[in-house]
Amino acid sequence: MTPPETQVLISSEDLQARVAALGAQLSETYSASKEAPVLIAILKGSTLFLADLIRAMSIDVVVDFMSISSYGSDGERPGVVRIMKDLDQPLEGRDVLIVEDIVDTGLTLTYLRKRLNERGPRSLRAVTLLDKVARRIVPVDLEYSGFEIPDVFVIGYGLDFQARYRNLSKILAVPDLSALAMEPASLVEPLFGPGLG
Ligand code: IMP
Repeated sequence: MTPPETQVLISSEDLQARVAALGAQLSETYSASKEAPVLIAILKGSTLFLADLIRAMSIDVVVDFMSISSYGSDGERPGVVRIMKDLDQPLEGRDVLIVEDIVDTGLTLTYLRKRLNERGPRSLRAVTLLDKVARRIVPVDLEYSGFEIPDVFVIGYGLDFQARYRNLSKILAVPDLSALAMEPASLVEPLFGPGLG
């Protein structure tokens, strides 16, 4: 079977430049804070973005991780979000920044904002690398965004399809997702070479 087509949506250079600019902007925002802001990365998609973002920041930051699932193990309907791994530290009185890979329907971020707000942070903001604004189901506050992208499935720079392709240094669009769904590993060789096979 021929592997599905991919298109480079955002090059590695463009990612690095935009993340550097976001890092500078966020450093400015939090430079007057009394305590280091707590950056909360949502596992696993935002890990590459977080790693580059914090290195582009020139101020002291604290990093924590949270893992959520948008459906239960028993196949509940999508949009039902639950916390699988919670934070290690309290947020009371802290400046908190949610770091997301992509905001799509907005359901995940809406849920996160609500749950984290209940913990009494001094401020709560969100940054996403990618914003698929055309797919929004619920309006959600989003203070910082790297790129607005069209309604197309993307992989790379932390974003996966069935746990693969996170380690690509650019963002690729996969217009025919149903073809990839039929053979999830079909892009491994075109993108990474014959390798282990
Ligand atoms: P939503 O905003 O609640 O719909 O969910 C956002 C989550 O859906 C992200 O954190 C990703 O895990 C996943 N997601 C949405 N669109 C894509 C995509 O194009 N590629 C990979 N994951 C995606």
